[in-house]
Amino acid sequence: MSTYVITGGTTGIGAATRKLLQAQGHEVFNIDFKGGDYLADLSTQEGRQGAIDEVFRRYPDGIDVLICNAGVGPTAPPQMIFALNFFASVRIAEALRPLLKKKRGNCVITSSNSITNMTVRMDWVDMLSNVMDEERILEFVKDIPRTQTASCYSSSKHALARWVRRISPSWAVDGLRINSVAPGNTTTPMTQNMTDAQMDAALLIPIPTRYGRKEFLDAEEIANGIVFLASPMASGINGVILFVDGGIDALLRSERF
Ligand SMILES: NC(=O)c1ccc[n+]([C@@H]2O[C@H](COP(=O)([O-])OP(=O)(O)OC[C@H]3O[C@@H](n4cnc5c(N)ncnc54)[C@H](O)[C@@H]3O)[C@@H](O)[C@H]2O)c1
Repeated sequence: MSTYVITGGTTGIGAATRKLLQAQGHEVFNIDFKGGDYLADLSTQEGRQGAIDEVFRRYPDGIDVLICNAGVGPTAPPQMIFALNFFASVRIAEALRPLLKKKRGNCVITSSNSITNMTVRMDWVDMLSNVMDEERILEFVKDIPRTQTASCYSSSKHALARWVRRISPSWAVDGLRINSVAPGNTTTPMTQNMTDAQMDAALLIPIPTRYGRKEFLDAEEIANGIVFLASPMASGINGVILFVDGGIDALLRSERF
């Protein structure tokens, strides 16, 4: 039995991951702002620090796996998107790294397959990746109009995936692995309130493994990818962005890998 810490494990992809791990006999500690083992708003620095302190208190001998999964979708306010999707994952992973090191553990971060689409703003990605000053960046993004939140979302997830790639060699020196899953459109509370028009737009190109039917992936399919990357079966895998998107990335970017 291993000790897993997950953020955003209450609903959707996180809940499916938590249930799969518990069914395998692992201990899973869920940090979430609702229904968690520890309640915290991870979009705030205070919420994050409280959660980090609690993990150190509960697991002084270390943890095997950290799964940074909490996130908001592309309709959330820009500050929330950048604070939760990017800064919460990065700061929690950095803070809990010493506990992972004690067990030569690993970290899995939930990104998104939108990191490759046209909405990504590379200037915002560069700002997040290269400045990494949360207060200044959140001050800047408060002026982004709500019409551009899709770009905020894909850019926050692109910066996150880039951070995983950049940081992975230095984690490996400590005997640690860090990887990411990039889900495609998945049926979860995040996507369940989409209008028919939004749904049609999202499925303009049907997900290949859905064989042309107009439907999203299931949360369990993404959870399987996360659990695999976190497991000893993936011991040779580090710094990888695993697209769990039913083949959309391969369909649209066949020549890039
Ligand atoms: N559903 C999709 O189509 C899709 C696609 C690509 C990536 N993702 C990513 O997958 C991850 C999980 O999303 P989901 O689709 O399962 O949605 P979800 O809304 O069901 O899950 C999000 C989880 O994060 C928690 N959370 C939200 N705000 C929080 C906060 N401020 N502090 C602490 N916890 C908070 C929620 O309570 C929930 O448990 C997210 O990072 C999301 O960006 C989802």
